Amino acid sequence: MSENTFDSLLQEDRTFAPPAEFAARALVSDPDVYARAEADPEAYWAGWARELHWSKPWDQVLEWNPPQARWFLGGKLNAAYNCLDRHLDGPRRTKTALLWEGEPGDRRAFTYEELHAEVSRAASALRSLGIGKGDRVAIYLPMIPEAAIAMLACARIGAAHSVVFGGFSAESLRDRINDADARLLITADGGYRRGGIVPLKRAADEALTEEGGCPSIEKVLVIQRHVDGAPVGGAVMTEGRDLWWHEVVDAASADCPAEEMDSEDLLYILYTSGTTGKPKGIMHTTGGYLTQAYATTKWVFDLKEDDVYWCTADVGWVTGHSYLVYGPLANGATVLMYEGAPDAPDRGRFWKLIQDYRVTILYTAPTAIRAFMKWGAEWLRKYDLSSLRLLGSVGEPINPEAWMWYHEHVGGGRCPIVDTWWQTETGAIMITPLPGVTETVPGSATTPFPGIRADILSLHGEHIPAGGGFLAIRRPWPSMLRGIWGDPVRFQETYWSKWQGETVGSGDDTQPGEGVYFPGDGAKRDERGYFWVIGRIDDVLNVAGHRIGTMEVESALVDHPAVAEAAVVGKAHELKGQAVAAFVTLKEGLEPTEELKREISDHVVRKIGAIARPDTILYTADLPKTRSGKIMRRLLKDIAEGRTLGDTTTLADPSVVAQLKDDYEAKG
Ligand code: WTA
Repeated sequence: MSENTFDSLLQEDRTFAPPAEFAARALVSDPDVYARAEADPEAYWAGWARELHWSKPWDQVLEWNPPQARWFLGGKLNAAYNCLDRHLDGPRRTKTALLWEGEPGDRRAFTYEELHAEVSRAASALRSLGIGKGDRVAIYLPMIPEAAIAMLACARIGAAHSVVFGGFSAESLRDRINDADARLLITADGGYRRGGIVPLKRAADEALTEEGGCPSIEKVLVIQRHVDGAPVGGAVMTEGRDLWWHEVVDAASADCPAEEMDSEDLLYILYTSGTTGKPKGIMHTTGGYLTQAYATTKWVFDLKEDDVYWCTADVGWVTGHSYLVYGPLANGATVLMYEGAPDAPDRGRFWKLIQDYRVTILYTAPTAIRAFMKWGAEWLRKYDLSSLRLLGSVGEPINPEAWMWYHEHVGGGRCPIVDTWWQTETGAIMITPLPGVTETVPGSATTPFPGIRADILSLHGEHIPAGGGFLAIRRPWPSMLRGIWGDPVRFQETYWSKWQGETVGSGDDTQPGEGVYFPGDGAKRDERGYFWVIGRIDDVLNVAGHRIGTMEVESALVDHPAVAEAAVVGKAHELKGQAVAAFVTLKEGLEPTEELKREISDHVVRKIGAIARPDTILYTADLPKTRSGKIMRRLLKDIAEGRTLGDTTTLADPSVVAQLKDDYEAKG
């Protein structure tokens, strides 16, 4: 988001108190919850943990040796048991757990009892393939019920899942499988996206066979995606390696006792982009993660027994993990899952889904909201959205215009909006309104969730009471990442070194900097104390709510045989928030054609996936660098966004920039 937008954010003075009828029925309407959590955060989190099922209680709530936290030490539980088995004793047994609709319109539904049986059969099948506690399983699936079933089946037997977003390329899948040494891959013949079929199995085959393949993979379980009883088809099965899910799982026993897991046993790895070319495997463990996913789902979404809750995120992202699977199912909610695009077959699809399923809670991303705005409110007026009572936003800053549109047109002016800030690393929501308590301001995620200690700090760790600085988390929280898979040094350096050696805070409220977490975001605090998260201050882009590392895209660009050097920056984009702007120098003697641009762009998609496709590619004879050879991204960003140039005195060759800017304006 550009500075200008940001200034307009801080001038935002529209406020929205929780509607009286909403507050009257809300699970939380007493602002005292904040003070009670602050009085004794460990006791507060232990109170939440006690709402879960533990086969053995913990001996100690927290052990904190920065940067290593352990929560609920000695406690034993199973995440899948908490999401399924414990709901079977009462009326939730026959309650709908999962409602699913495929893009072509096919539907499936599972009660808690049915979902439990499916997950148990899948878990038995995994066990029969020799998968067990401590193993890693890669999941590369479309948004079909089996995605959630496979995750829960892994959790049931104590294997960690590593879900890879179905939009990632074969190469991205291969890198993630190899980094985690996964023994099993679960994929599908295909899924639907905008009327077309995404051939996942074909990509999986490419990942497993080309360029060294994936030596750790022993078996591949392939789900057959059906439409109207007919399989999508196209999967070529490799004898001895590939097995059909329906053959193995349907025959397996539905009696599969859940593995007793330690609170700190690994639940999953999820890869996310950082500042280097290689994505990081974020590690989440069982007890603390589930506790905070459960607590935030319940309070932030004011979740009641009769809600129909829809989170539009793909299971390939952390939002899909915490708020499509673990959080809502641990709460015994009815969850809607939709496979496809919001404009298939037309731009009314989301609103039709809300009408058809009587959705009460909608959790989606600003990018989607901005697309809906552009498509026009007529699409919404064709459908009955009166079932909605609460709206959520996640993944990127929401601009006040989009917030207001969401409020008026989707929420009919009556639904509170929860703008939730968090990350793959935080595991669960960290900064958010509580819908029955918090007065909201369009564009602000407001205040930390009870028990979370967030702050805005200067470079040297001074507390900034009002104004801009670095977002910081000053106290361990249950669902915090426990590390980066295979890279403890990077874990320490990325998140815990920003204020190392400094004293953080001010007045009587200070602490050593090595225990303070740096999320990588810049933020400001307004006079009422509300947080405004502005966006990444590192080399991570947020394109349509998806995290993409500039270095990842740069490596993909220079991998193309014609490219000598490349630099990537994010440029403000009306719909996507940010778009990828690439600057490319070609190898000696090559012709800078439009066709080559397309080829380079396709190469990035092949290497990473469609989400990384450059919005613009600009040829340049040289890249602006400092005298020490560092690419000056800030200048490139200024050029990409058409701003006047900043200070170029440290530049090795200032004329490079002037030339670039002219070229960009002419062609970009
Ligand atoms: C950004 C997604 C402003 C932020 C859950 C963060 C947000 C990154 C918000 C994490 C929000 C997420 N307001 N910015 N409500 N939510 N972000 O790991 O830059 O995919 O660091 O997790 O998204 O992205 P991730």
